[in-house]
Amino acid sequence: MNNLSELFYIQRALRKAKYPDYKRVSKEIAEFTKSRKDLKKILEQIKQGKPWEYICKSVEFYTIQFYINQNVIIPRIETEKMVNLAIKKFKKEHFDTVIDIGTGSGCIIIALVKSLMLPSICKKDLTKTKFIATDSSGRALNVAEENIKKHNLLNIIKIKKTDLIKRINLKNKSVLLMANLPYIPQRQYERLDESIRKYEPKSALEGGVDGNKYYKKLSEQLRTRTFKNFTLILETEESIIEETKKIFNRYNPIIVKDIYDKNRFLIMSS
Ligand SMILES: C[S@@+](CC[C@H](N)C(=O)[O-])C[C@H]1O[C@@H](n2cnc3c(N)ncnc32)[C@H](O)[C@@H]1O
Repeated sequence: MNNLSELFYIQRALRKAKYPDYKRVSKEIAEFTKSRKDLKKILEQIKQGKPWEYICKSVEFYTIQFYINQNVIIPRIETEKMVNLAIKKFKKEHFDTVIDIGTGSGCIIIALVKSLMLPSICKKDLTKTKFIATDSSGRALNVAEENIKKHNLLNIIKIKKTDLIKRINLKNKSVLLMANLPYIPQRQYERLDESIRKYEPKSALEGGVDGNKYYKKLSEQLRTRTFKNFTLILETEESIIEETKKIFNRYNPIIVKDIYDKNRFLIMSS
């Protein structure tokens, strides 16, 4: 369905539902929908607050298309910066292992590997590095695996169900760690948009009372492991970044801003 009157009809419905970015999404809905009956069903779900990405089960991240369902969060555009930071690091240093901790849809590690495979970006032999995606949720890992398959990376990226980096042999290895763990403080979570609370997995978003529950745990795991060395790039919330920074103080973290000029990332090396 893709004529102008249909498009305006969808736009009106989305505007009424106060849907953000309604012009782009209206076009996508028009292209996706096969019949009036389908369209009615979709608009009904949009009215209930269901994000379009969960209806079409697809999202673009780092110009790459990913399959998603409600077992993973919708990758956010701000997180793309993490991929840029990781590419920069990977080009400069050798890493035996690269780990995406809390991979969800697999968007970060897949975008990283696909970028590193482009000779215009990186000339290194990727077979010299192990790429691992971890998550504590088996359901999230199913989504990551689906995406790894979709992008023909099954021979490069391995998935592991584990608590952060537990049970991964990193002894004497130089490791690049990327982590976008749940970091929204409990009380802030309660104030999030209803559509986020209703449709996205809470276990992927809320980071305990102070938001730093998982980063404290990660710092503990890092302290008790015997790496050769590591670099960690993490994403957190602007309102708690100073506290997150304190957790990792011994590694002298540097704050990096996101595309909206907010302090959102930490990068540090052992
Ligand atoms: C904010 S989401 C990030 C998903 C994806 N990396 C992204 O950027 O879109 C956090 C992810 O961490 C996972 N997670 C939560 N606790 C974890 C733990 N203890 N160990 C590993 N992963 C965990 C969640 O299941 C979820 O997939």
